[in-house]
Amino acid sequence: MKTARHQPSTRPARATAGRPPPELAGLRARLADAEETLRAIRTGEVDTVMVAGKAGSQVFTLNGAEHAYRVLIESMNEGALTLTADAVILYTNQCFARMVQLPLQQVISGSFCRFLSAADQPAVQRLLKRAAKSGSKIRLLLRAGNGAQLPVLISIRPLTTPGARNATLGMVVTDMTEARRSEERLRALSHRLVDVQETERRRVAVELHENISQLTYAILMRCDTLARKLPTGAHASRAELLKLRGLLDQATEEVRRIAQDLRPSALDDLGLLPVLRRACELFAQRTSVRVNLKGVRSIARLPAAVETALYRILQETLRNVEEHARARHVTVCLRQLGHLVQLAVTDDGIGFDPNTHPARQKGKGSLGLLGMRERTTSVGGALEVKSAPGRGTTIRAQIPLDPGTLALAHS
Ligand SMILES: Nc1ncnc2c1ncn2[C@@H]1O[C@H](COP(=O)(O)OP(=O)(O)OP(=O)(O)O)[C@@H](O)[C@H]1O
Ligand SMILES: [Mg+2]
Repeated sequence: MKTARHQPSTRPARATAGRPPPELAGLRARLADAEETLRAIRTGEVDTVMVAGKAGSQVFTLNGAEHAYRVLIESMNEGALTLTADAVILYTNQCFARMVQLPLQQVISGSFCRFLSAADQPAVQRLLKRAAKSGSKIRLLLRAGNGAQLPVLISIRPLTTPGARNATLGMVVTDMTEARRSEERLRALSHRLVDVQETERRRVAVELHENISQLTYAILMRCDTLARKLPTGAHASRAELLKLRGLLDQATEEVRRIAQDLRPSALDDLGLLPVLRRACELFAQRTSVRVNLKGVRSIARLPAAVETALYRILQETLRNVEEHARARHVTVCLRQLGHLVQLAVTDDGIGFDPNTHPARQKGKGSLGLLGMRERTTSVGGALEVKSAPGRGTTIRAQIPLDPGTLALAHS
């Protein structure tokens, strides 16, 4: 058994002007001693360290330290493994053996790849090679000995000291079953919320249109009848009536605008393109930002959920342009790419860093981008946010379509 001695340092030496302090030589010698001890431990030349302290010398054996680590690793709720860069399992804990439902001895010295699907193997092998330098993470399905599949998060770190000939990797495997279930429940809940919100908006829009608008229209008609019945000389009353009529006109228009905003009836009656066109026109009129609608000239009806999602995404992006972008031009592009329908909205405004945008920093509950993402994933699509300070913003939603529903006419 080789033993290294480590002397703890005492008080630092104080320098005297012009002359090296007398303790300096002693301290240098101790430093060299400590460095030699560390080097010897790293290279495995010693397995015992003797540390001198106030209470006398204490002996730490590295076997003891290794034992403590083993107890720690065995008591973990995660699978822990050491592997070669070629994925041969050198060591694993019981938790991993339980995950793959095999006895420990059947796991050790086998390849980790046997627990992966053929599709995942190349990615994990690439990752192991890369991880030898920097470490990586991946989510995948682990295939247990009995064929069952387990969603896991794998995180890999290099274990070997730099310069060593045989690279060893440390791997921690976390069972994601519960996390995945929670994610699925949350996703289902948020899709349901989107559906309920859409149904409720439609109901309120119809009520506004059928009840309030009909009523204001009836009052307008009565005003006109009353105006005709007024004596020719009743100028003051006629002027009041005209003002009243004007206000009612405004109220009717406002109700119509709110109902349209809640759910444009044209979306159900005419489909996506006329509604996008109208939304762009209204936005340009209201904000004086120039809007260019590109891509398709006509479009066949898409599934109602897709039309609604794309319309809501446009609505939300235009709202963001108005509130945040300080843009002069917006380009809205709707097109079909193979079995995908794509809506991209680009502005030439101030842009932002999507990872650290101000609202996120302030902890404000910003829902716009989140809602757009939710809408897109609820119909099986993906949302991309491309932006940088000073470089404008592009929001792109891509939604896959059943081949049967495709009939986009290109410009
Ligand atoms: N087109 C854009 N130009 C510049 N910044 C933008 C643009 N779109 C979004 N942002 C930035 O991203 C942030 C998040 O947008 P998001 O729509 O999620 O929330 P919000 O608009 O702040 O609030 P909410 O939409 O919930 O009312 C905004 O606060 C803004 O800083
Ligand atoms: Mg917003």
